[in-house]
Amino acid sequence: MNLNIALLPGDGVGEEVTRQAVKCIRAACRRFHHSPTFTRGLVGGAAIDATSNPYPPETHQLCLAADAILFGAIGSPRHDNAPVRPEQGLLDMRRRLGLYANIRPVTPFPSLLHRSPLRPEIIEGTDILFIRELTGGIYFGQPRGRSEDGNTAFDACVYTRQEIHRVCTLAFERALERQRRLTVVDKANVLATSRLWRETVRDMTPSYPTVTVDYMYVDNAAMQIIRDPSAFDVIVTENMFGDILTDEASVIAGSLGLLPSASTGLHTPLFEPIHGSYPQAAGRDVANPLASILSAAMMFEIAFSLPAEGAAIRRAVEETLAAGVMTEDLRDASSSPPPVGTEEMGDRVAARI
Ligand code: IPM
Ligand code: MG
Repeated sequence: MNLNIALLPGDGVGEEVTRQAVKCIRAACRRFHHSPTFTRGLVGGAAIDATSNPYPPETHQLCLAADAILFGAIGSPRHDNAPVRPEQGLLDMRRRLGLYANIRPVTPFPSLLHRSPLRPEIIEGTDILFIRELTGGIYFGQPRGRSEDGNTAFDACVYTRQEIHRVCTLAFERALERQRRLTVVDKANVLATSRLWRETVRDMTPSYPTVTVDYMYVDNAAMQIIRDPSAFDVIVTENMFGDILTDEASVIAGSLGLLPSASTGLHTPLFEPIHGSYPQAAGRDVANPLASILSAAMMFEIAFSLPAEGAAIRRAVEETLAAGVMTEDLRDASSSPPPVGTEEMGDRVAARI
């Protein structure tokens, strides 16, 4: 099969972590006889430098023409005070590609159970699928900005019934393939948008009689996810709650450097680590590339419907970790051998594929 992949490394450690994912994609393609083509595009800080636009039209065309997008990370302190921030590139990309559903699985690796700040018996058996709405809510709502005197700022949180319905449809469908439990996280005791979420989901429940649905306020969910993570199956939530809760949930897996994600919707699906650009580590060969490599596994499964290829990558990651090969963020200083760098981790996983 020909795999036409848009490669958007972005800022910070994006370049070096996606390089490792590319190695692993090539390894899986050799093993399973596919032909990958990678076409590079600019996004974020690098795109601002070259074109003063963090998501230039050429990059958008490249994304539309590809079968899948492998994206690195975005954000650069150098551009923090620029008229347009690099993060705007990622938000434009999500919105213009209509990527309304962000899928973030959280499952700890057995060999890393001891790495989490939570006790192993708390995280054992955890397998949560977060579905974060990605193109609505307070990230995009209008009006947003400042009053004329500059002393008042506002960001509107806006959702339509249709936006809620389409992302919850995906959440119900994923729940049907799993444990059939769906938790809707909101703040319906305070927010009008959350009340519309509940109303919309309540109207959908008769179509999914085998799925058990419960509703949880986000403050309580933030506590329950840490207190008893294995009680959850699929969690669906709005954009900003999903952003916050998935960073929180990464401590269950042991490191933010391990969590992959897929964003799907109207056009080309996009695969990216949930972590940021980690500018302090850029170019130092210390960043953990596993989130990017695991995002490549999701790409095989979701964009190309090639589950064996995705499973081979995931198994290679598991075996590599079980062999005690760890990047700095995963190492338990007292007992472990010295950490490997970003490149070596990529080589080790690719070799096992
Ligand atoms: C994420 C990131 C982004 C977000 C930032 C970089 C805009 O934190 O993908 O979770 O807030 O969505
Ligand atoms: Mg985030």
